[in-house]
Amino acid sequence: MKVSIAVVPVAGLGTRLLPATKSQPKEMLPVAKRPVVQYIVEELEANGIKQILLVTGKNKTSIENHFDFDHELTRHLREGGKEQLLPQLEYERMRLQFFFTRQRKQKGLGDAILCAQHFTQDHPFVVALGDSILGLNGSSQTVGQMVEVFHDQRPACVIAVEAVPAENVSSYGIVQPSGEESVFQILDLIEKPSLEEAPSNLAIAARYVFAPGIYQAIKNTKPGRQGEIQLTDAVRALLQAGEKVIGFRLPPGERRYDIGNFESYFKAFIEFALHDSELGDSIRDYLKEVCSENR
Ligand code: UTP
Repeated sequence: MKVSIAVVPVAGLGTRLLPATKSQPKEMLPVAKRPVVQYIVEELEANGIKQILLVTGKNKTSIENHFDFDHELTRHLREGGKEQLLPQLEYERMRLQFFFTRQRKQKGLGDAILCAQHFTQDHPFVVALGDSILGLNGSSQTVGQMVEVFHDQRPACVIAVEAVPAENVSSYGIVQPSGEESVFQILDLIEKPSLEEAPSNLAIAARYVFAPGIYQAIKNTKPGRQGEIQLTDAVRALLQAGEKVIGFRLPPGERRYDIGNFESYFKAFIEFALHDSELGDSIRDYLKEVCSENR
């Protein structure tokens, strides 16, 4: 069975990015020329996904508008002699079907995923967090490879992971690996542990493939910190019930760009801008100038 459905939760309040996110979704913040969520959707399409369910919430309608056709704008560009800008709207023609549902109260990532149950029903599905880009310019092939592992091994879930510096382990779900391989069994995992509690420095990297059993595990999960239902806790419950959970290391050279906090958002913006085919060189010169001691 192919995995052709992805669930992209974008309902979070994004409080760590206030005031930027007071009235606009963090998933629509630009990283160089595109909004975050566009990179994610393009990555999913390139990895074989055909249907995307966006779990939205309050103040998120700009995400729906972004993926809709804008005939008026297209006509304006054509008739106004701005045809050279039309390729910027090419993404509207991606071979994808979009679906939307709303998480009515922000009760955490686990709860947001539960909103997808009636849509995915008995099918396996990918989860891609709406605030994390995989690979420079969303170029990652990891989801497709995770789907292959899912087919071969039939686990309850496959989770992408990447090594993070020690000072960052308390910001992510951290897994305990069975070994050093790039694909391994996860023995345990814990959401935002202290450095002492952390079983490794391997952080969950915003992509998952799930069998439908995750839904019952989420329903059985009690809210944790700040009253949120954590997806990590639901996966832990699967493990404790004896289910197989697989970790998949991001390949060398591939990174997760987390847009959820200002430091990593700024870094991602700079890195993507430096790789812009049109403006990258001039931005590099400008940064050198700004950073030079003489200034
Ligand atoms: P975060 O864990 O970063 O939470 O979300 P957040 O609430 O958006 O951000 P802060 O902590 O207040 O700054 C990871 C992904 O899960 C979605 C977010 O939209 C983001 O894409 N999410 C999170 C939901 O859809 N619903 C939730 O209740 C929480």
